[in-house]
Amino acid sequence: MSRPPGKSYLSASQIRLRVRTLAASICRTYRNRPLTIVALLKGSVFFVVDLLRHLDSDTEVEFWNVSSYEGTRSTGKIRGLEHCRGNLHGRDVLLIDDILDSGLTLDRTRSHAKKLGARTVQICVLLSKQRKRARNVRARWIGFKIKDEFVVGYGLDLDQRYRALPSIRTLPSSPSST
Ligand code: XMP
Repeated sequence: MSRPPGKSYLSASQIRLRVRTLAASICRTYRNRPLTIVALLKGSVFFVVDLLRHLDSDTEVEFWNVSSYEGTRSTGKIRGLEHCRGNLHGRDVLLIDDILDSGLTLDRTRSHAKKLGARTVQICVLLSKQRKRARNVRARWIGFKIKDEFVVGYGLDLDQRYRALPSIRTLPSSPSST
């Protein structure tokens, strides 16, 4: 097996414990209210599956495949939104993503969910980078606040590599451009 890249940042057990706490809080908030999870692919795939193990079995799930990054930089554009669908009409929607960075992805996907008729749209991210955002986006649930560094693992990739790492690691990156 190849050596993992960069430096260790969050261990698999830290992530596991935090996911359980987030799920408990989400359950309390949506008790007796039918919930639709919209998970943004591919980065949130491990996070959403681990969360779902602890959520109400009635929770509906949609997957939206959108992307904005090339290498360690945002392109400033969201690709794939035109194919994102689902019966969100009148539903309480919880958008799930791996990381809140410039805010562009969650700003655009939140607007799209509202256009599809969602009654409410909240956001849950595993990671939130501490930086100035290009868009005004606030996540109701945040797993970990992190420094403005490029991270990989637990679903997060560098050009499709390293998603399968069980922990999160930092790579040297160029400063944010968006
Ligand atoms: P924005 O800038 O739109 O970014 O908030 C959100 C999306 O960009 C990807 N992203 C990253 N992926 N390590 C990654 O592997 C990072 O440090 C990183 N920062 C942003 C991610 O796909 C996220 O959905």
